[in-house]
Amino acid sequence: MHDSRETSARHAFVAGYPVRHSRSPLIHGHWLEKLGLAGSYTRQEISPEDFAGFVSRLKSGESGFTGGNVTIPHKETAFRLADRPDALSEELGASNTLWLEDGRLCATNTDGHGFLANLDAAMPGWDRTDRAVILGAGGASRAVIQAVRDRGVREIHVVNRTVARARELADRFGPKVHAHGMGALAEVAKGAGLFVNTTSLGMDGEPAPDFDFSPLADGAIVTDIVYVPLMTPILRQAAAQGRATVDGLGMLLHQAVPGFEKWFGVRPVVDDELRRLILADMEKH
Ligand code: ATR
Repeated sequence: MHDSRETSARHAFVAGYPVRHSRSPLIHGHWLEKLGLAGSYTRQEISPEDFAGFVSRLKSGESGFTGGNVTIPHKETAFRLADRPDALSEELGASNTLWLEDGRLCATNTDGHGFLANLDAAMPGWDRTDRAVILGAGGASRAVIQAVRDRGVREIHVVNRTVARARELADRFGPKVHAHGMGALAEVAKGAGLFVNTTSLGMDGEPAPDFDFSPLADGAIVTDIVYVPLMTPILRQAAAQGRATVDGLGMLLHQAVPGFEKWFGVRPVVDDELRRLILADMEKH
């Protein structure tokens, strides 16, 4: 049977404010070209006042988009305005991926998928650990906590300068998640097989504090969700201490996969060619 949707061009977007720094158009544009699909993925700079109108034109079909990504500052509003947010978005209170299905606006959050797929590709077997340490309790750490918990890691220790923010997340994500201040880091790192940085520590012109990765388990992995620069101050320290590291660029690439599949009907592949394309762009800016 011929499905006309397979031959007609589909259009997706990334909506943010500002949005010009988003590398998502480069990723999706690469896949569209590589797969020979007619379609587009464009930046849409939408102010907070205009976002509800943008979503209503998306829902009505007037905008001609099949769906898209939303980024800062629209992730929470996108979740609230969606007709069918999935369980991941519900728990996070935020969505980064929208698509129309039977005239309804569906929403999910693919950051956790991106985080896991990056580790799976770089360090298969990383998830055999029982203990993870996550540094930071901002917006970006939520999807990581959720993903690591859902993968089955039994003890997740969230360490944050402001311990109240870590506690909020422990309450939100359940009994496997424990909250601590920075002073507890050495203690909770003992025997952990995964250490994740979700903060911008050391990137704001201030020197990064010295971290001692020796309490981690043998074979532990240190990863960062920040990917500019690729070797963040924390990854640099971990590598200097002989730890295996995984940079955050793969998370950006892998989080884009489920959205592309929803909008364009084909599951794309994250490969070295795509990684090199984004690295080349990072060198330019
Ligand atoms: P995002 O949504 O990108 O995660 P955020 O909500 O501003 O950004 O969170 C930034 C994270 O980095 C927080 O965990 C923050 O700690 P606080 O909750 O105590 O603010 C952490 N962070 C930023 N600068 C820091 C610093 N100099 N020392 C320790 N933690 C820092």
